[in-house]
Amino acid sequence: MNKNKKILVANWKMNPDNISVARSITENLKKALRRKKKIKLIVCPPFIFMSEVAEIIGNSKTLYLGAQDVFGGENKTTTGEVNAEMLSNLNIRYVIVGHSSRRGTCETDEIVADKVLSSIKSGITPILCIGESERDENGRFYLEVKNQLEKSLAKVKKDNLSKIIIAYEPVWAIGKKDSDAINSENLHEMVIFIKKVLSDRFGVENSLNIPIIYGGSVTKRNVSELTLKGEVSGLLVGRESLKIDNFTEVINILESI
Ligand code: PGA
Repeated sequence: MNKNKKILVANWKMNPDNISVARSITENLKKALRRKKKIKLIVCPPFIFMSEVAEIIGNSKTLYLGAQDVFGGENKTTTGEVNAEMLSNLNIRYVIVGHSSRRGTCETDEIVADKVLSSIKSGITPILCIGESERDENGRFYLEVKNQLEKSLAKVKKDNLSKIIIAYEPVWAIGKKDSDAINSENLHEMVIFIKKVLSDRFGVENSLNIPIIYGGSVTKRNVSELTLKGEVSGLLVGRESLKIDNFTEVINILESI
């Protein structure tokens, strides 16, 4: 991964409702990225649209395809799942793992750890989501983030840490108004904390350059401040990534800073 490029992850979640809209968004994203040099956009559509989106993306050097989830187990008789090998065979190089909306459906840190490991084994970069459910005055939320991080990375060896992107997504900030997103000071503190937790576990050298991105109610209005003052390597965007005009502005702002 080009470490100097900002990472933008577009998490479409369970949208759009049909393939023609998915196609149109992807084509517009491709246009929006023309001549952009400082951004790497990873678009994560629902599985059902991936082949068509992949075709439109082609061999773009700025637009990449990511999955929203992956099955971490070995059992091929499991119904309704998609494993990392299948993703890899479709040339998918990124996958979101441990998103709070999945952790909310009984996905434990142990399950997330298996997903991280099987992605790495198949040559796919996991975008590991972590984040506290709420903030308390005593700072217990730091412990929650530390636990998630350590347990989700429990099966990762030192040498493989560089193959991971960390997405810090405080659950309380997801799906809100942009004025309710985290403030850049608190974000910066958390970025430093995450680096410290990684350094303690994997060593300073291995941890300093791990991309840490932020997600939770990002819009064109807060993208600049969060990126610059929060000192993140990029952003994970949900709802706004489906509104092509707004998202094009996010792209343009990110390119300009
Ligand atoms: P949001 O979603 O940008 O709509 O808050 C972010 C996410 O859940 O990934």
